[in-house]
Amino acid sequence: PLRQRTYLVNGELKTWDGEVQRVLSPVCVRSADGELEQIEIGSYPMHDEAASDAALDAAVNAYDNGRGEWPTMSVAQRIDCIENFTRQMVAQRQRIVQLIMWEIGKSLADSEKEFDRTVEYIKATVEALKELDNSNSRFTVVEGTIGQVRRTPLGVVLCMGPYNYPLNETFATLIPALIMGNTLVFKPPKFGVLLFAPLLEAFRTALPKGVLNTVYGPGAVIVPRMLNSGKVNVLTLIGSSKVADHLKKQPPKAHRLRAILGLDAKNAAIVLPDADIELAVRECLLGALSFNGQRCTALKMLLVHQSIVDKFLQRFVEELDKLKIGMPWEKGVQITPLPELSKISYLTDCIKDAQQKGARVINDGGGTVCGTLFYPAVVYPVREGMKLYREEQFGPVVPVMAFDDIETALEYVITSEHGQQVSIFGTDPDLIGAMVDPLVNQVCRVNLNCQCQRGPDVFPFAGRKDSAEGTLSVTDALRAFSIRSMVAAKQ
Ligand code: G3H
Repeated sequence: PLRQRTYLVNGELKTWDGEVQRVLSPVCVRSADGELEQIEIGSYPMHDEAASDAALDAAVNAYDNGRGEWPTMSVAQRIDCIENFTRQMVAQRQRIVQLIMWEIGKSLADSEKEFDRTVEYIKATVEALKELDNSNSRFTVVEGTIGQVRRTPLGVVLCMGPYNYPLNETFATLIPALIMGNTLVFKPPKFGVLLFAPLLEAFRTALPKGVLNTVYGPGAVIVPRMLNSGKVNVLTLIGSSKVADHLKKQPPKAHRLRAILGLDAKNAAIVLPDADIELAVRECLLGALSFNGQRCTALKMLLVHQSIVDKFLQRFVEELDKLKIGMPWEKGVQITPLPELSKISYLTDCIKDAQQKGARVINDGGGTVCGTLFYPAVVYPVREGMKLYREEQFGPVVPVMAFDDIETALEYVITSEHGQQVSIFGTDPDLIGAMVDPLVNQVCRVNLNCQCQRGPDVFPFAGRKDSAEGTLSVTDALRAFSIRSMVAAKQ
C-alpha cells in the first residue's frame, strides 16, 4: 500500500502526521470467511483547517497581487517550467497508470490512454499558448491609441477534478490555469488521490515556490473554508452540479468568484426510423457503457423511434452480452468494478423505481451486483416520473424510451435542465439538418451518427444550463483562465 503522508505547500514537501484516509481499491478479493472485500491500497492525509489555510496562503503569497515571480514571468519561461514538469511526469508513466487502474478500476488500456492523452493535452496547450495573442511585442494602433494587449492571469485558483478522469480532466484545468500565470491550490478528487503522489516532486522542482499547493480531504470542511476566506479568485471544478451550487454560495457577498465548471449531464441519443441500426447500436453501446457509463459525456438516455425499437433493443442486448466484464487488468475488459459504493445502491434503487412504474430490465442478469461489479442493465420502457427519466445515473444502467413523433424526442432534450450534448442517428440529411439548428442552441455539441464525447481536445468542450460554466478545450481553457488586459498610450 502507498501510505502517502507527503504534500506540497509553499515549495516544500511536508510530512503529515495527523489523521489519514484509507484508500480502498474498487477491486475486491474474497476474505477467509467468504466475503468479498475491497483491497486496501494506501492512505492519504486528511488535512485540517490549519493545513488548508497554509496551502491557500502560500498560493496568495506566490501570486502577491500580481507582483509574484510566476504571474510576472514571461510566457516563454513559464512554458519551460511546464515542459520540465511534463518530462518528469512522463518518466513516471508506468506508476501513474497503475495507480489510475487500482484507484478507480479503469481498465489498464483506458488508464494508459488517459495518461497519454494528458501528455498530448499539455503539449497542445503549450503550442496553443505560443499561438495565442500573448506576445508582448504585438502592438496595435487604433484611432491614435497604441495598445499592447496581453493575456494576464486571474489570481488564485482552487482546482478540483473528477474521479472518472482523475488525471486527464484535472490537468485540463490545472495546466492551463498554471501556464497562464495563476497560482493554485489543488485538491485531488475523492477517488484518484494517490496517483498524484509521484508528481509532487516534479511540481516542486519545476515551479517557483507556492505556485502549486496541494490539500487533501475532508473536502466538505476545507473547501468551503477556503472559499469563505474571500482569497480565492477562481473556482474550477469538474464534478457534480450539486457540489458546485453549494460551493458557489460560500464566498462573502462582496467577493467576486469566477467559476469554471464541468458538471452533470443527461446526454440523449435520438435514433430516427431510417437510422442504420447496426451503427446506432454500436455507437450507443459504447456511448452508454464505456468505463461503466461513468463519463459526463456518456449517453444516459436512448430515445428510439417506435417503428424500430424492437429490432434496436434486440441487437443492443445481443451486443451488450458480448461485453467483457471483469478486472481492470484483463485484456479487452469493458465493464469493471465501480469505485463509488453508494452508486451501486443508487443504481439498484433507480431500477426498482422504474420496475415499480412499469418498466423492466430487458437483458438477462442486468443489474446483478457482485461485490463492486454491477452488470449493465437496459431498462425499457422508461417514462416521465421515473428517476431514470431525468436523473444522471452516471453508471452502467441504460434507460430506453420509444417515441412516435420527432417533436417528442426534441422536447425531451430541449426541456432538460442539462445541456451538454446529444447524438442523432439517421440517414435523411434534410431531417437531420432541421433538427440540428434548434438542438445546437440547447446543447453544446450535436453528434451526427456517432456517440457523444469530449475531444479531439482542440474542439470546444462546454455545456449549457446546469451542465457547465465556461468552455474548455486546449485553447478555450487558456482563455478561461486569463483576461485580456492592455497597456495603452497616445501616439
Ligand atoms: O467525464 C467527462 C469527460 O469529459 C468525458 O470525456 O468523452 O473523452 O470520455 P470523454
